[in-house]
Amino acid sequence: MSDLPPLDYSDDLLRQVLRGVRTIAVVGASANWNRPSYIVSRYLQEKGYRVIPVNPGLAGQQLLGETVYADLSAIPEPVDMVDIFRNSEAAGPITDQAVQIGAKVVWMQLSVRNDEAAARAQAAGLIVVMDRCPKIEFGRLGGELGWYGVNSGIITAKPKEAPKPKRDKGETEHRPRQEYGFATKAVHAGAAPDAVTGARTTPIYQTASYVFEDTDQAASLFNLHSFGYIYSRLTNPTVSVLEERVAALEGGRAAVAAASGHAAQFLTFFTLMEPGDHFVASRNLYGGSLTQFGLSFKKLGWHCSFVDPHDPQNFKAAITEKTKAIFIESLANPGGIVVDIEAVAQVAHDAGIPLIVDNTLATPYLCRPMEWGADIVVHSTTKFLAGHGNSLGGCVIESGKFDWAKSGKFPGLSQPEPAYHGLTFYETFGDFAFTTKARAVALRDFGPAMAPMNAFFTITGIETLHVRMQRHCENALKVARFLADHPAVDWVSHAGLENSRYAALRDKYLPKGAGAVFTFGVKGGFEAGKRVVERVNLFSHLANIGDTRSLILHPASTTHRQLTEEQRVAAGAGPEVVRLSVGLEDAEDLIRDLEQALGG
Ligand SMILES: Cc1ncc(COP(=O)(O)O)c(C=O)c1O
Repeated sequence: MSDLPPLDYSDDLLRQVLRGVRTIAVVGASANWNRPSYIVSRYLQEKGYRVIPVNPGLAGQQLLGETVYADLSAIPEPVDMVDIFRNSEAAGPITDQAVQIGAKVVWMQLSVRNDEAAARAQAAGLIVVMDRCPKIEFGRLGGELGWYGVNSGIITAKPKEAPKPKRDKGETEHRPRQEYGFATKAVHAGAAPDAVTGARTTPIYQTASYVFEDTDQAASLFNLHSFGYIYSRLTNPTVSVLEERVAALEGGRAAVAAASGHAAQFLTFFTLMEPGDHFVASRNLYGGSLTQFGLSFKKLGWHCSFVDPHDPQNFKAAITEKTKAIFIESLANPGGIVVDIEAVAQVAHDAGIPLIVDNTLATPYLCRPMEWGADIVVHSTTKFLAGHGNSLGGCVIESGKFDWAKSGKFPGLSQPEPAYHGLTFYETFGDFAFTTKARAVALRDFGPAMAPMNAFFTITGIETLHVRMQRHCENALKVARFLADHPAVDWVSHAGLENSRYAALRDKYLPKGAGAVFTFGVKGGFEAGKRVVERVNLFSHLANIGDTRSLILHPASTTHRQLTEEQRVAAGAGPEVVRLSVGLEDAEDLIRDLEQALGG
């Protein structure tokens, strides 16, 4: 990937380029069917472009049904666009040649960038696009990329339309690039009216598989050479909409959904780790994650060290040669602990490893960890994203900013993958390589796919996320203040309280509210905690959070039961602790319910 600042091309410019050109010379075309230049050339041919391969080593041979030329000047016909699959230095003279042969566009592939050559070509009237892939941009503008959960950045109430080459060149629409707000993305991102029926709500594609056009197209899909649907264990149109929506809300590049939050965590670590590898996690996590990491992952040879997240240096001290990631919850379940994401991200990046943040409790409405340096965000969408306690689900989102090749620690992404005939994920998919590999290998081979029906409920839930979270937070703070003043209550751990030990971190990371899940300690220990849970009437006693309904739990006797007493206390789930997930009822009714449960 280029170390230079990212280049910003408007969608209209890219659309204009892809619509305006018909003949594309591919410089550096490979005869190896699994190299990016071959894959891109073939894709462009399928989309209706004439592709002319250029490669001195193959000159005179046939490739993809076309004659290969030694260089651009040997091509005996007009060329509209030159697509460069060579390094940035070599791109200079090739760009100059493109100007000489009268091309209108020079396109440099991902990681290829030569600003001086670009300036010369632009001065000669050419359009130059650098560090981009025409296959990815074509797929993104036409909606295909969203099928892989990639955040296209396109919000529209019109059916998506591929930027097909047109004979009527020069057609342009010039709308300024639009940045949309959170609420608009929550309602629209990833979804567009159905191009065939006009259906406005995302349909539930309750299908296991998808008919191939022919055997060639089927092979191309199985090789990951073109975008499309094969089988709903890998991709499903309803699930894709959810993936793109969550990626957009988190400010990420791409996402892959899973059957549950735990499945999302499994997909993440399977993509990162080899047997014998290690990661460092906060000790303040959801109890199920502590068990997954500490016990079940160990059986796969993945080792986890748990550390106190209050001091970022604790993560640093636990890093070894084998460490592949740091894992934290932004707002920890159950204690309402706020972690210093930016400081922990710095520790991770200094060690050449990614920071993974479970953002389930905060949701992207309250906190977007990628803005503070997180590389991967995971969610249990079961909670506030779906929001109504009706659908299990999980999601993994990648920022697209982590360099998987630099440290040499992630050969699974930066080296050829045996499970795909030696395809190199990072080289081929660039900034959405991680989620593509999580989908194409981990999801394919272990199968915890999200059901389309659950994706539908989750999409619908997300459309009101911003409205719900506001009310969840207001209600929770009212309830927390009431409890803090109650004589039967020892302490309340809600980061929104004025005297919270997390006040400074809350103001930095959670300015819109400190969430709706928190704990309090009842005077009288284990039995007193259980008694409150048994005496409430409006709060539902169950093992979930993030519902419209208010929920209550005694973690020591339920979610954190499998842990030792010491682990329970360390995780904020000691004997006297009661956890609440405050819903959307009238706060006064909730307070009255707790008052009678605590009294007498
Ligand atoms: C913070 C957090 N992460 C992950 C999970 C696991 O998610 P799921 O239950 O969807 O597998 C939970 C579930 O309670 C959670 O609260």
